[in-house]
Amino acid sequence: MSLTSRRRIVENMTEYVEVCRSIDVVERRGYRAELDIEHDIALFRVGGVVYGVTNICPHKREALIYDGFVDRATVTCPAHAWRFEICTGRNVSGGGGLRTYSVIERDGFVWVSVPE
Ligand code: FES
Repeated sequence: MSLTSRRRIVENMTEYVEVCRSIDVVERRGYRAELDIEHDIALFRVGGVVYGVTNICPHKREALIYDGFVDRATVTCPAHAWRFEICTGRNVSGGGGLRTYSVIERDGFVWVSVPE
């Protein structure tokens, strides 16, 4: 499904696009939402809340973050083990961080704010 054909909602003056069902995003496992070439997003549920970060690792630009090892609130890239805080995108291994996305859940779906 292309980015332009997805359902949209506006909340607090921010537009969100529908990316998946809430039940698709579970604890301790990533979910990949590839919206378009600029927005390849990894979603994670931490403590019941869904967070979104870019799926592209800043180390070697591999699209693997969604497939990383999740330990509490961090995800480890499966390629070379850089580790990131899921909630902030901060790289706890010392390199560049992950871009974060604003995420909400409404009506059983996950919605992400995608800057134009
Ligand atoms: S590509 Fe992610 S740590 Fe190297």
